[in-house]
Amino acid sequence: MSNATRPENGTAVLEVRDLTVHHGQLRALSNVSFRVYPGEVYAIIGANGAGKSTLLRTIAGLHHPAAGAILYDGEDVTGLRPERRATAGIAMVPEGRRLFPSLTLEENLKVGATFAREGPWTIERVYELFTWMKDRRNQRAAQMSGGEQQATAIGRALVANPRVLLLDELSLGLAPVVVQRIYGMLPQILESGVTVLLVEQDVTQALRVATHLQCLLEGRTTLEGRPSDVTAEQVEAAYFGMAGAAAGQGGHPGHPGQPGHPGEGSEP
Ligand SMILES: Nc1ncnc2c1ncn2[C@@H]1O[C@H](COP(=O)(O)OP(=O)(O)O)[C@@H](O)[C@H]1O
Ligand SMILES: [Mg+2]
Repeated sequence: MSNATRPENGTAVLEVRDLTVHHGQLRALSNVSFRVYPGEVYAIIGANGAGKSTLLRTIAGLHHPAAGAILYDGEDVTGLRPERRATAGIAMVPEGRRLFPSLTLEENLKVGATFAREGPWTIERVYELFTWMKDRRNQRAAQMSGGEQQATAIGRALVANPRVLLLDELSLGLAPVVVQRIYGMLPQILESGVTVLLVEQDVTQALRVATHLQCLLEGRTTLEGRPSDVTAEQVEAAYFGMAGAAAGQGGHPGHPGQPGHPGEGSEP
């Protein structure tokens, strides 16, 4: 997958142009730019606080940029309200899942269908993707494991029939085996025609699935390329900054996401 040529002459389904976002005095993103082409799995990696969630939330319309633009299918959507972006085909799985804990699994999926477009994804189709769900559809979200909640959050986004799916740290707080199971669903999601923009602290996981990679460090792009074109050393330096890499904070080369990753002490 990572050796595929980017269709750079076609229209990007999503383009972020010179995006700068402030939280009060803090500059969370500085001049971030990239294009995501149809069928790609574009991965943004970066340490805690790098600006990954700010980026996805700004694309979804939940933060207003101080400068820059967001283009969807070549159209400037920077001024559109979040609901309009959702109905246009941008859906997000937010960090920490954010299900309604007192609602059942199925009720949470129905929430996602509120602004749904026409398309292949229905609640039944989500039950085919995650086969354990149907029998558990009346269980409250609060009673589900972290991995089950993450799957439900993905299902909730899919039933909106997005063209672009924004995934914010699917791995957060989950055991590695659960993370792999969740990411194992990606091929079926891509086959349905969805393009994926994901953010991850877990570099190893991101490298496993990404067709294109970009690293953020304190809100700035420090590396960009196909996973096959970047070395572990480059990723490590971009992830931690040159000083951090030189000081040996990187842990294993190629696994800079592992030390201090919140997967430790994780849920089933
Ligand atoms: N709503 C907010 N208000 C103020 N500061 C924020 C807010 N959201 C994020 N930040 C700050 O912006 C920076 C980037 O945060 P975030 O986008 O959550 O990073 P990441 O998702 O990469 O961990 C951090 O320094 C964080 O503390
Ligand atoms: Mg985040």
